[in-house]
Amino acid sequence: MFIGIDLGTTGVKIILVNASGDVIAKTTESYPLSMPKPLWTEQNPEDWYNQTIKGLKKVVKGYEKDIEAISFSGQMHGLVILDNNDHVIRPALLWNDQRTTQEVRYLNETIGTDVLQQETGNIALTGLTAPKLLWVKNNEPALFQKIKKIMLPKDYLLYRLSGVFATDVSDISGSLFFDIKNKRYSQTMLDVLNIKETQLPTVFESYEKVGHLLEEVKNILQIHQPVKVIAGGGDQAVGAIGVGTVSPGKSSMSLGTSGVVYVATNKFQVDTQSHLQSYRDSTGHYLMMGVILNAAGSLKWWNEKIFKEHDYDKFFEELNYTSIADSLYFLPYLSGERAPINDSTAKGMFFGLQAHHEKGHMHRALVEGITYALKESFDLIQNLGTQIVNIRITGGGAKSAIWAQMIADVMNVDVEVMSIDEGPALGAAILAMVGNGTYPSVSVTCEKLLQVKETFYPIKDNVALYEKKYNVYKKLYETVKPLYNII
Ligand code: XUL
Repeated sequence: MFIGIDLGTTGVKIILVNASGDVIAKTTESYPLSMPKPLWTEQNPEDWYNQTIKGLKKVVKGYEKDIEAISFSGQMHGLVILDNNDHVIRPALLWNDQRTTQEVRYLNETIGTDVLQQETGNIALTGLTAPKLLWVKNNEPALFQKIKKIMLPKDYLLYRLSGVFATDVSDISGSLFFDIKNKRYSQTMLDVLNIKETQLPTVFESYEKVGHLLEEVKNILQIHQPVKVIAGGGDQAVGAIGVGTVSPGKSSMSLGTSGVVYVATNKFQVDTQSHLQSYRDSTGHYLMMGVILNAAGSLKWWNEKIFKEHDYDKFFEELNYTSIADSLYFLPYLSGERAPINDSTAKGMFFGLQAHHEKGHMHRALVEGITYALKESFDLIQNLGTQIVNIRITGGGAKSAIWAQMIADVMNVDVEVMSIDEGPALGAAILAMVGNGTYPSVSVTCEKLLQVKETFYPIKDNVALYEKKYNVYKKLYETVKPLYNII
């Protein structure tokens, strides 16, 4: 049996899977996200560890003797810093934290996007790890001096569970101090950030073994045999494995807190316009992705913060079915936005409200707005030369047939839903199988274990209506942008 751990933004999901891909046990343990100031997001790494142990105890119960290997997927880009005694120095800054506007400006303008692209294949975005390190250096210099180890969120779990200071190619690609093309840290970037390679984890392929579960962890879980620990990867690369997006040209879309349009590529390709992120993936190849910061995150804000409502089935039931051509629009820029606009000052909005509108229209505008935002990245990928004919969807949002049909209609492609949708946690379990030697490669494993459950085909009339609305949607940001600085 194999364990896949997905360290997400709202909780850690842990699944226990056998070698045939059957999910034997699963749990999700949540933890708080703190927003000490507007646009700041932080979490306590100790919460990640404690909740992971709590979840592991639940899923291994009764199967202790059968566990062979464990692997990870994790929210990307977060900054975890440890001192000389391996204590966490400050709460982790997360991928959707937007406090680094000034540091991003310094990196892109003073160091220069040409240097960044040459060294890392990417430019600075507020969410990435390098600008976060600069922020700590500029704003908390005493803490910066104490840094002994720098790691990404899932690498902290890996460190606590195995004692090995390691990361993997896909997750470290999102740091902006890794030379993706040459698979090594960029000395130029380390100099810019004033850090040394000794402060950074050893880099593995996602499917490589980094060590074994520590005795103290095995004692807690009542496991007696050795359990291999496999490196794992960033949640987008590992989520792509979970739906089998592993061969070049294949595409998927993740509807989690963030929303991501993802394409697998066999050679390293840089988006010279820098709207898309170009990284190593978790299979030994490459990926390109366009990320919006609030996909299901917008639904969570609307339902839980505004309506104090947690029933998402009810949300989709209330959503107005018949109003595609209606005048209402929503921009999902609740925490600024990454792709394609890369603007941390962007704001969300409803546009076009009229007296006949009810809650159901607003629900619909919300889901449409998120889908249009994703279409912008989808178009960018196609414009770079990858023709997308079908797309596999995953994440919380993929459970809704209404949303799946909307994606098919808005993008005008076939949308596939998988029979097991355990997302990145399943991808992590697959990495554990490959790292264990149970299967020869990630793609062979995906072929053996994964199946499409349902396909949604574009409906011609809807495609035309959405196309019209999308063209209006695209004009909204540029039109209201001049106002962002005065509100
Ligand atoms: C990817 C990104 C997000 C997080 C979400 O670049 O920032 O998708 O990984 O967990």
